Amino acid sequence: MKKGLFITFEGIDGSGKTTQVKEFIRRLEIASIPFLLFREPGGTEIGEKVRKILLDKSNTGLLPITELLLYSASRYQLTCQSIIPALESGKVVICDRFYDSTTAYQGYARCIDLSFIERLNSVATESLVPDLTFILDISLLEREERIGNKDLDRLEQEDIKFQERVREGFIAIVKKEPERAIIIDGSKSSAEISDEIWGYFIKIRKGEYNDEIL
Ligand SMILES: Nc1ncnc2c1ncn2[C@@H]1O[C@H](COP(=O)(O)OP(=O)(O)O)[C@@H](O)[C@H]1O
Ligand SMILES: [Mg+2]
Repeated sequence: MKKGLFITFEGIDGSGKTTQVKEFIRRLEIASIPFLLFREPGGTEIGEKVRKILLDKSNTGLLPITELLLYSASRYQLTCQSIIPALESGKVVICDRFYDSTTAYQGYARCIDLSFIERLNSVATESLVPDLTFILDISLLEREERIGNKDLDRLEQEDIKFQERVREGFIAIVKKEPERAIIIDGSKSSAEISDEIWGYFIKIRKGEYNDEIL
């Protein structure tokens, strides 16, 4: 039986996920709330090996369905081996990307059938759904300004149209599941964003959040 809270951070590259995850866990530490942090793809020994394949720029021949299955393989390992046991022990579990990234990247951007992706996401997570998902949203121009000079990985180096479809995919997820997925304006200051995120977390912890918006 799940007792802990499962919080995921999503959004296009450069939207501030890792920055906000760090700020969020700093606040959990201050509040003495036990937590575990994972990143996707990866988070387990096997998953980190899969991550290397997925992000390696020299893997130019990786086909879309191979990519989808590798992400799902990494996710299933992480969910069963680490996330579910941590939630059962009552911890807050934070994930820097989870299945919404598959919906946005492999579904909306690579145009793989969305109902197949939905089914696969459910299998790869044992039907686990985050309690709260923060979708950080920035424009493509802001993305360019933030990560333009970085050494880009295999998915980051996809063209602007691809990145636009990813962004639209995340926005579509928010429209479909507004009770779980919260869009956050990633162009605000880091401090403003982390206050907003913490506010939502405190509400859901008290059990107030879902009542309020229904
Ligand atoms: N709210 C913000 N305003 C301006 N720059 C930001 C903000 N949040 C993050 N950044 C910067 O943008 C870049 C990408 O942030 P990062 O947290 O690594 O994004 P992601 O993990 O989503 O790819 C970093 O250089 C970071 O310092
Ligand atoms: Mg990051």
